[in-house]
Amino acid sequence: MDLAFKSLIDLVSRESGIDLTKYREGYLRRRIELRMRMLGLRDYGEYLKILRNDGDGEIQKLVNTITINVTEFMRDKTPFEFLMKNILPEIASRKKRVKSNIVRFWSAGCSCGEEPYSIAICALEVLGEKWLISIYATDIDDTCLEMARGGFYRPVQLKNLSKMLINKYFDKEGDGYRVKNFLKKHIRFKKHDLTTEGPVSKYLDVVFCRNVMIYFSEQQKAKVVNDFYNALVEGGYLIIGKSETLPAGFKDKFECVNLREKIYKKI
Ligand SMILES: C[S@@+](CC[C@H](N)C(=O)[O-])C[C@H]1O[C@@H](n2cnc3c(N)ncnc32)[C@H](O)[C@@H]1O
Repeated sequence: MDLAFKSLIDLVSRESGIDLTKYREGYLRRRIELRMRMLGLRDYGEYLKILRNDGDGEIQKLVNTITINVTEFMRDKTPFEFLMKNILPEIASRKKRVKSNIVRFWSAGCSCGEEPYSIAICALEVLGEKWLISIYATDIDDTCLEMARGGFYRPVQLKNLSKMLINKYFDKEGDGYRVKNFLKKHIRFKKHDLTTEGPVSKYLDVVFCRNVMIYFSEQQKAKVVNDFYNALVEGGYLIIGKSETLPAGFKDKFECVNLREKIYKKI
């Protein structure tokens, strides 16, 4: 690793509080070089000087470029269909046997809220208002969490939702839609760094961590998946992104219930 690159990573990690050494080097270089191109720079040393002066909040801009938060409601659709058709009915019948009506979720790397609100919609559609539906939604990015709490979205972000669901769960506001309060109240948004902190809660029924670990090193992924294992109840589900894989060493901890959708069950 060259000196300028290493100094840059150390500086940004120290100043932002986000440990960039936990990300894959190739990924970091691609994202940093993207930002450098936008500023017309070719040299890590030159970029380092700008970061040291932190003109125009460049450190935060770089962090946002690294922790990209692209998403939408019911992203990829099919994992949410599987949640509604298979996972939620199974959890509901298991809970009924022990006379419980609480279902607990964690959306880890929730971006601007589209994923936890989608989970809440699925849970309300399948289980109804009588169940206690509790969703932890965490992300490292403050700006995103602020937007998530506000719950305001443009029509393009809702393109996977039917008109019926939009009318039921959103109020039209200006050129967009705002999540209704009865949906919001199921979700607790919280700043949380998956790479340095432990699980946000325990006894969870379903953990979503989609399109987040893709940027982590193998060692970091193993740490995070181990946290999910500890956070889930026996028989709880872990749902990761379609292009992601569980790190080696988890075959005896999770059973794959749907390989296409990357859905795993804690053994
Ligand atoms: C591409 S978005 C995924 C959003 C959503 N899960 C989905 O699949 O559509 C990745 C999110 O992971 C968050 N993230 C990146 N590194 C993180 C970390 N160390 N801890 C928590 N969240 C992180 C980013 O801020 C971003 O919001």
